[in-house]
Amino acid sequence: MAPKINPAVDIVASPPIAEAANWLPDRPPQGVGALLDLAQAIPNYNPAPELLDYLGKAAADPATAFYTQILGLPQLREALSVSLSTEYGAAISPANVAITTGCNHAFCMATAAVAGAGDEIILPEPFYFNHDMWFTMQGIRKVALPCREEGEGMVPDIDEAEAMITPNTRAIVLISPNNPTGTIYSEDRLRAFYQLAERHGIALILDETYKDFRPIDAGAVNPPHRLFQEASWPDVLIQLYSFSKSYSLTGYRVGSLVAGPAVMEAVSKIADTITICPPHIGQLAALYGLQNLTGWRNEQCGRVLQLIDALDTAFKTHPSSYQLISRGAFFAYLRHPHGGRSSIDVARDLAKNQGLLVLPGEFFGDSQQDYLRVAFANANAGQLEDLARCLVVSG
Ligand SMILES: Cc1ncc(COP(=O)(O)O)c(C=O)c1O
Repeated sequence: MAPKINPAVDIVASPPIAEAANWLPDRPPQGVGALLDLAQAIPNYNPAPELLDYLGKAAADPATAFYTQILGLPQLREALSVSLSTEYGAAISPANVAITTGCNHAFCMATAAVAGAGDEIILPEPFYFNHDMWFTMQGIRKVALPCREEGEGMVPDIDEAEAMITPNTRAIVLISPNNPTGTIYSEDRLRAFYQLAERHGIALILDETYKDFRPIDAGAVNPPHRLFQEASWPDVLIQLYSFSKSYSLTGYRVGSLVAGPAVMEAVSKIADTITICPPHIGQLAALYGLQNLTGWRNEQCGRVLQLIDALDTAFKTHPSSYQLISRGAFFAYLRHPHGGRSSIDVARDLAKNQGLLVLPGEFFGDSQQDYLRVAFANANAGQLEDLARCLVVSG
C-alpha cells in the first residue's frame, strides 16, 4: 500500500507548467506552423561558449566533485558582494551573502527563516505559483494583496498592505521585475514597502531574479533601488537573486540570498539540513560569470529587452481583442476577451486550436481568471508576430 501523503503537500496543485504542457496537441493544428511554447521563463540564448569550455575543464577536476561550505564558496560570496555593492552603491559584505541552489531555494529558506506554521506572509496577487505552493506545504498563511492595473503595470497598494498586517505577520514578498506580470515597481513603491516592513518589524523579501532585464539608460548609474543604502537594511531586507536567467544557467541551480546576520544564521541551518551546499559546479559557473561575463550578460539581457519593442510592434501590426496590460523583463500579462470564461479554458483552447502555449492567470491566483501570462523571452521577434496572429484568430 502506498504511504499516506502529508495532507499539506497533497492539497497542493500539480506543478503548473508540466500540467499546461499536456494541453498541447502532438502535432500542430491545421493551418498553424510550429507549436509556440511561451509557458516557461527560459532565456532564448545558450550559455557563453567560453563558460562551457571552462566548465568542461572544471568538471574534470576531482576537487569539483566535493562539497563546498554550506553558504557557498568564499570566493563566490566575495565576488557577489563586490558586484552587488557596486551595483547598489552600498557596502554589502560577503558575510551577508549566501549562495543557494537557485532562487526558489533561496525563497524557501528566506520564508522558513522568518515564518512557521500559522504565521502570515503578505503575497501580492497575482503571485509566482511556487511561492504559494511552498506556503501551503509549510502551513504558512498566505495573505493575498490584490494588484491593480496602474501606471507601472499591475501593482500592490501600500495602504491595503498595511491594513492586512496583524500580530502574526512575518513578512511581505515582492518580485520586481515581476513574475507573472513583468511590471517593474518604481523605486518609490519599493521604498514605501521597505518603510512599512521596518515600521512593523517584519521582513521585506524582495525577489530580484529578473533585475538584469530592466531597461538601463546608457551610462547612467541606475541601481534597481537604494534600499541597501539604508543603515537598517540588515534588519528589514532579504534580497534574492538567480543566476538562472541572466547567465542562461537554469540547469546549474545557483542563486543567492542577501540578508542580515540573524537571518543568515537561520539560513545556514536550513541550507545545511536540505542541500548541505549548492552544487559545486553551479557555483563555479556563477563565479566564472561574475568574473568574466558581465559584458556578455549585459548584451544578452539587452537583446531580451529589444524583444519588448518587437512585442509592441507585433501587437500594433496585428491588433486583437487581447489587451496588453503589462510587460517587462520576461513576461507579458494579457487580458483575454472572453470575459466570464475561466483563463484555464481559454489557455487550453489556445493550445489545442492554435498550438500556442501560454499560462492561465488562474495559475497565479484565483482572482486572475481574466488574464494570461506570456513568457515572451523564450521567443524571437518572428515568433512574437506568430503570437499576435494567433490572438487575432482566437479573439
Ligand atoms: C520570480 C522567480 N523567482 C525564482 C525563480 C526560480 O529561479 P531559480 O531557477 O534560480 O530557482 C523564477 C523562475 O521562473 C522566478 O520567476
